[in-house]
Amino acid sequence: MASDDEGLIAELHALVGARGLITAPDDVAPYLSDWRGLYQGRSPCVLRPADTAELAGAMRILARRQVPVVPQGGNTSMVGGAMPDESGRQVVLSLARMNRIRDIDAVDMTMVAEAGVVLKAAQEAAAEAGCLFPLSLGAEGSATIGGVLATNAGGNTTVRYGNARELMLGLEVVLPDGTVWNGLRRLRKDNTGYALRQLFVGAEGTLGIITGAVLRLFPRPRAREVAFCALPDLDAALALFRRFRDRDEASLQAFEYMSGAGIDLVLAHIPGATLPVASRAGHYVLVDLASPRPDAALRELLEAVLGEAFEAGEVADAAIAESEAQVQAIWRLREEHPEAQKRAGASVKNDVSVPVSRVPDLIRGASAAVTELIPGVRPVPFGHMGDGNIHMNFVRPDGMADADFLARSHDLMDRVNTVVRALDGSFSAEHGIGRLKPSMLADWRAGAEFDLMRRIKAAVDPLGLMNPGKVFEA
Ligand code: FAD
Ligand code: MLT
Ligand code: ZN
Repeated sequence: MASDDEGLIAELHALVGARGLITAPDDVAPYLSDWRGLYQGRSPCVLRPADTAELAGAMRILARRQVPVVPQGGNTSMVGGAMPDESGRQVVLSLARMNRIRDIDAVDMTMVAEAGVVLKAAQEAAAEAGCLFPLSLGAEGSATIGGVLATNAGGNTTVRYGNARELMLGLEVVLPDGTVWNGLRRLRKDNTGYALRQLFVGAEGTLGIITGAVLRLFPRPRAREVAFCALPDLDAALALFRRFRDRDEASLQAFEYMSGAGIDLVLAHIPGATLPVASRAGHYVLVDLASPRPDAALRELLEAVLGEAFEAGEVADAAIAESEAQVQAIWRLREEHPEAQKRAGASVKNDVSVPVSRVPDLIRGASAAVTELIPGVRPVPFGHMGDGNIHMNFVRPDGMADADFLARSHDLMDRVNTVVRALDGSFSAEHGIGRLKPSMLADWRAGAEFDLMRRIKAAVDPLGLMNPGKVFEA
């Protein structure tokens, strides 16, 4: 260990104590690799402060010593956002111990949660108070409130409740120099100058550390219906989405698309997964309807819309869940897509969005473009169709070495992005930029927009210590 590191560790240890600092290489190791297995970083230690005051003190030490810091929540980033680089200089700052729910108010419909609260724990705490915290995604058992805000996560319920940004009223943030900004206001209206809280949402830890947040709660659902539908083609998926949206937009909690290839991977790789409809199809959607009104008659709504779609040739078959166990089984087919894809071999992910009307063109166009580039590649498009956000992912061809396929990642992403650009879309819908996509950001947002982003970064983090190499190129 370099003597600089020894001095740093001694100073941090004096502030946060043994529980707040990990230095043994075996214990540091889990913080240095990401869920996708794309990166392997290095760090002299992992800092785990107990509260905001400790964290602020640590930031002052890091700033004085000019040590770069990498905030980490549940480490579920799909773009390497929480990974330190290979230099061994960047300190990982884990929010895991700051996991208290400070307050729940069922009149104001707010929750004040620390950044390290796991998303699922926040959902459960809201439910215990008779409310709903609607943000929901496959990694919710590990992802944290700080992480979902720092990435402005979307997930399955954006179509109804918006992204993480729309679910936040106030923030507490520690700035790069250790200043604490307490903006934990629970107001629905607060037009008082620049909305600074929104600056830190989606900033991916490049401007400051989110330590706490005021989250919006909603009335809990008292009626729910979930269906899994087999469809003849992609245009039918769009037509079915429009039918549900036009009939009762407020009850539509999720509208998720899955391809035949994606469901086949889940059936092959996930033990216990079964197809709820009689025969396989090329395309499927999951429809989740819910309402706080117990008399919302969602079953009638669901059957009426599916009946009309069946008549119009848009639905080939459908299964409606008859129990909570069946709801969970249907959702599992959707949520196990990332895991099934991981088990099927190396894959390249493209988390892209287009206007919802262009989703069929996106899936057809990107699949064709990448198949032309790499014959035999397996397109596995799936995701949040109601938001126009499709995970335009590709698994390597059977028989191709993982490394050979991954070596072509950037060519493959370029092909997808060319299609996305032509459809007026975005190269990153919900996963962010992280370490994977800074060059894409510089390219796609070049000009006034990117210049302004860089000026904000320089103003808030003049020493460039906050999560270097993420969002902006190192
Ligand atoms: P981390 O991965 O630890 O960090 C993510 C980024 O936020 C990093 O840049 C990190 O530096 C920064 N950060 C973390 N905490 C803080 C903090 N307190 N202050 C400042 N910066 C911080 N995302 C979606 O949007 N929708 C999905 O449907 C979805 N599904 C997923 C499914 C799976 C199986 C997996 C593995 C991931 C999925 N994701 C999805 C990715 C998603 O970005 C993360 O799940 C989540 O938003 C990140 O939370 P985290 O606590 O794990 O953050
Ligand atoms: C999901 O929605 O499951 C993840 O965001 C997608 C992915 O694995 O690309
Ligand atoms: Zn997603």
